[in-house]
Amino acid sequence: ATTSLTALLTPAAAAGRGVGAFNVFSLEHAEALVAGAAEAGTPVVLQLSQNAVRYHGSLAPIAVATLALARASAARAVVHLDHATDVDLVHEAVALGVGSVMFDGSELSYEDNVRVTAEVVAHCHARGVDVEAELGEVGGKDGVHAPGVRTRPDEAAAFVAATGVDALAVAVGSSHAMTERSAALDLALVAELRAAVPVPLVLHGSSGVPDDEIVRAVRAGMTKINIATHLNKVFTGAVRAVLDENPALVDSRKYLGPARAAMAAETARLLIMLDGTGS
Ligand code: G3H
Ligand code: ZN
Repeated sequence: ATTSLTALLTPAAAAGRGVGAFNVFSLEHAEALVAGAAEAGTPVVLQLSQNAVRYHGSLAPIAVATLALARASAARAVVHLDHATDVDLVHEAVALGVGSVMFDGSELSYEDNVRVTAEVVAHCHARGVDVEAELGEVGGKDGVHAPGVRTRPDEAAAFVAATGVDALAVAVGSSHAMTERSAALDLALVAELRAAVPVPLVLHGSSGVPDDEIVRAVRAGMTKINIATHLNKVFTGAVRAVLDENPALVDSRKYLGPARAAMAAETARLLIMLDGTGS
């Protein structure tokens, strides 16, 4: 069943639990994520990035399919628009029924990020949709890794007060699209941000962060843990293994099915790890 992002994140933040937010690139990814969440018995956030929408050519087909899977799931699920810089795409996602959106104004000046994010919040909150924003750019979105960028706690608190966002993505040492899990986070800064910022914090680029460091980050105060590349690696690794074994294979279900199963199993493992962090 679908729920709201704040309904998942607010109690999780209070209890020191993590919530997994994983990216959907194809129908099989969405199926794997809801299967993994049902197996784990935890909630999950199913995210569609603006980049993934550009890949498909339009939002509606993949969003409607993902929403149908989320509504039919035994798990509580939120369908979320990830890394939107296009405000028209935000409006389209809201009209289609997503539970939350991330407006990513991290490349804008502070003043423009506040102004556009506040406009997105006004539009979304009037329609019951939650908003995540980003302050202090988490690198790697364009292939350029900048793990040294940091979000300032005082600026983060002012940004949340000025915009009314429901969750905030912060730069604490991770970087997007890392294929090795080797990033070290600034856990002292996570604790400072947690103390200064009244809404749940979001860790982007978590694929590059080892499991034990993710657990430490959740304990220090991160709540929504975004993972895309790592699960893609699991999915594609399974496709590659099947095709290597069976060079004459033609039926796409014969490699997509095992890839979906592998991704579901890793999804369940990650969700159980994140959910168990509070206890
Ligand atoms: O918004 C999505 C994430 O931040 C995923 O990043 O591919 O490095 O795990 P990742
Ligand atoms: Zn991200």
